[in-house]
Amino acid sequence: MKTLIAYAGRNGSTRKTAERMAGQIGADAELVNLQKQPTPVLTEFDHVILGGSIMAGSVPKAMQNFITQHQETLLSKRVGIFICCLMEEQIDQYFSHNFPEPLYSHAEQKIWVGGELVLGDHNFIVRKLLKKITGKSEDIHSLNWEAADQLAAAAVTGAKE
Ligand SMILES: Cc1cc2nc3c(=O)[nH]c(=O)nc-3n(C[C@H](O)[C@H](O)[C@H](O)COP(=O)(O)O)c2cc1C
Repeated sequence: MKTLIAYAGRNGSTRKTAERMAGQIGADAELVNLQKQPTPVLTEFDHVILGGSIMAGSVPKAMQNFITQHQETLLSKRVGIFICCLMEEQIDQYFSHNFPEPLYSHAEQKIWVGGELVLGDHNFIVRKLLKKITGKSEDIHSLNWEAADQLAAAAVTGAKE
């Protein structure tokens, strides 16, 4: 079964997570950065994993557009979704806001893979904002590889959550 991993992020955590999943799935996985690569031909895939990072509550525009354009086709395939972010208490809201019904209900897995924050990647104003949001003044590295592996394993075995 061929699996497409289509992702969109900003600072590398979503990309790293998607790459990890592709490595776990192996030769049947194809990785596409929706912000940089052309939209893939979906007919080639039985299974699609969608992954996006959250900034100010939303996934990147490229992921929003992909979902809007391909929702009907996605509903005819096995789908797993993941989000990369830091605010655990907001996860349910992020999923429902960014993955519209009926795609959200259709997805077999909805997985939060944690996130990372390297304060040095951002300017003074954004750093201040991020410290306020997270309540922390140091970098955060909390990507959850087990969660990523769970999604990859479901692609290989066909298991449902
Ligand atoms: C400007 C900015 C805004 C963010 N907003 C949110 C947010 O609203 N909720 C949240 O949980 N995490 C938020 N984050 C944390 C990111 O989701 C986290 O750093 C994630 O790992 C980024 O993934 P990426 O490296 O693929 O872009 C924000 C980060 C930045 C830099």
